[in-house]
Amino acid sequence: MRLDGKTAVVTGAASGMGATEAELFAREGAHVFVCDIQESPGRELAERIASNGGRATFQRLDVAQDDSWAELVTSIESAGEGLHVLVNNAGIIVRDGLMAMTMADWDGILSVNLNGPMLGMRACAPLMRDSGGGSIVNIGSLSGMMGHPVAAYAASKWGLRGLSKSAALELADWRVRVNMIHPGLVHTPLIAGTAAYDAMRSMTPLDRAARPDEVAAVALFLASDDSSFLTGVDVPVDGGFEAVSAYRRVWQDLRERS
Ligand SMILES: NC(=O)c1ccc[n+]([C@@H]2O[C@H](COP(=O)([O-])OP(=O)(O)OC[C@H]3O[C@@H](n4cnc5c(N)ncnc54)[C@H](O)[C@@H]3O)[C@@H](O)[C@H]2O)c1
Repeated sequence: MRLDGKTAVVTGAASGMGATEAELFAREGAHVFVCDIQESPGRELAERIASNGGRATFQRLDVAQDDSWAELVTSIESAGEGLHVLVNNAGIIVRDGLMAMTMADWDGILSVNLNGPMLGMRACAPLMRDSGGGSIVNIGSLSGMMGHPVAAYAASKWGLRGLSKSAALELADWRVRVNMIHPGLVHTPLIAGTAAYDAMRSMTPLDRAARPDEVAAVALFLASDDSSFLTGVDVPVDGGFEAVSAYRRVWQDLRERS
């Protein structure tokens, strides 16, 4: 029960990694605010958590809207248990490169993937300060560590890295830690079934996609006091993609020749 007595917000919690994180955090004792724009799967998840003996509250949240965050803050204050954990997980992608991308795509991706965590940290950090400190986990991507075919997505995740490190610096005064997870290929609705899925899998040294629970386990570590002296760090959860994928094809080729 590593989050016993704590309150956690998980954004984009109706699907994929966010849903798995919300369930895990509830099993670890947290009261979880399950936040998403998708109401019915979000409510169903909160009900499933409650039927398994956990504590969860669904809150419709559009991470790109400041008013929506203000409504969430009001709900958290009404619950009266403070706030200790925020996982900025909600994210979207549009699969066009720089030349094909529209301004609507660019604005849409940046508003969810970059403005969203910024608005979330500004809304939630004061509640964490008043609760004696907290942990923010921002979900980035390998596309925030290297070049990526979707320029707007990469720009949003690189931006989130800079934002996270700046927030780690500023919020340390309030005992609020800010760290990032950079997933590689994860089997979720965002990417499963696309051509990018197979291409990434073939370049991943562990030769498979991650399960969402393998990312959620790292989110739990960063959310809990187990990581109490970590702030401002990047944690790739990518089966070795970032460290060694450039040699993946060379290695396969050498084995075939020998
Ligand atoms: N799946 C991967 O391989 C992968 C790899 C690297 C990074 N990521 C990142 O992981 C995070 C989670 O992705 P996933 O794969 O679980 O995707 P997913 O599509 O399964 O889930 C994303 C969730 O975010 C929600 N969402 C979208 N816009 C929102 C908004 N404006 N406000 C609130 N919620 C909103 C969606 O409704 C959905 O429930 C994203 O930030 C994504 O960029 C995913």
